Amino acid sequence: MLKLQQCDVYYGQIHALHGLSFEVAAGKIAAIIGSNGAGKTTTLRAISGLIPASSKSIMFEGEPIDRIKPEKIVKMGIAHVPQGRRIFPGLTVRENLNIATSSWKKRGMSIDKELDRVYTLFPKLQEREKQLGWSLSGGEQQMLAVGRALMSRPKLLLLDEPSLGLAPKVVEEMFETIQTINKEGTTVLLVEQNAFAALSIADYGYVLDLGEIVLRDTGASLMKNEMVQAAYLGE
Ligand SMILES: Nc1ncnc2c1ncn2[C@@H]1O[C@H](COP(=O)(O)OP(=O)(O)OP(=O)(O)O)[C@@H](O)[C@H]1O
Ligand SMILES: [Mg+2]
Repeated sequence: MLKLQQCDVYYGQIHALHGLSFEVAAGKIAAIIGSNGAGKTTTLRAISGLIPASSKSIMFEGEPIDRIKPEKIVKMGIAHVPQGRRIFPGLTVRENLNIATSSWKKRGMSIDKELDRVYTLFPKLQEREKQLGWSLSGGEQQMLAVGRALMSRPKLLLLDEPSLGLAPKVVEEMFETIQTINKEGTTVLLVEQNAFAALSIADYGYVLDLGEIVLRDTGASLMKNEMVQAAYLGE
């Protein structure tokens, strides 16, 4: 579904991604793990068109998307849940969700089906429908960020550190829900510093270090890998 080939990204003089190549197969969960500053966020931002990659190197469903604007990429079926959630604090939960349908919704079309899906996955959001974004807990804000992304009807969901700042129990629930979203047919690319949580649910994983992929294997094999255990799993 998604293929990066020799993808380079620069911030001015800083060479953030070095010839990155990896794939995400349709229907799967892929994870990129790596420490602070490895280039995880940069990778997702390049895919969703928020920063330019320096070569024609990103393909989505067989089409190059390097030169395509972010709003068009959303229409093509890629939704990005940014690091730190970035929900709209002054809008209600329902308004945050409504906004994300603008990529496909035409006048008079119903959004009930999408809303039902989100409220079934995250019943808390329905309870808090009229509450303003800022008043939600961290876990609820993360639910809202994921829910908002789902409202755009994505084929591929990009998740940037969904575990960040959440209590272990909340992380566990979030990752179970990510698996449910995937089983319902949405392909997932997840980036995480929380290697254990990410690899536990990933079909396939990549280890990113200083803008380069240094290891690639199934999630289960990476979890058993000595280098991964020493560097990322605290063993
Ligand atoms: N806007 C920017 N301008 C200049 N350099 C940047 C910018 N954003 C990121 N970088 C640099 O690019 C590299 C990759 O950063 P990135 O944010 O992608 O890492 P990350 O893996 O997401 O880290 P974290 O786990 O802390 O979120 C780092 O060296 C970072 O300092
Ligand atoms: Mg990041």
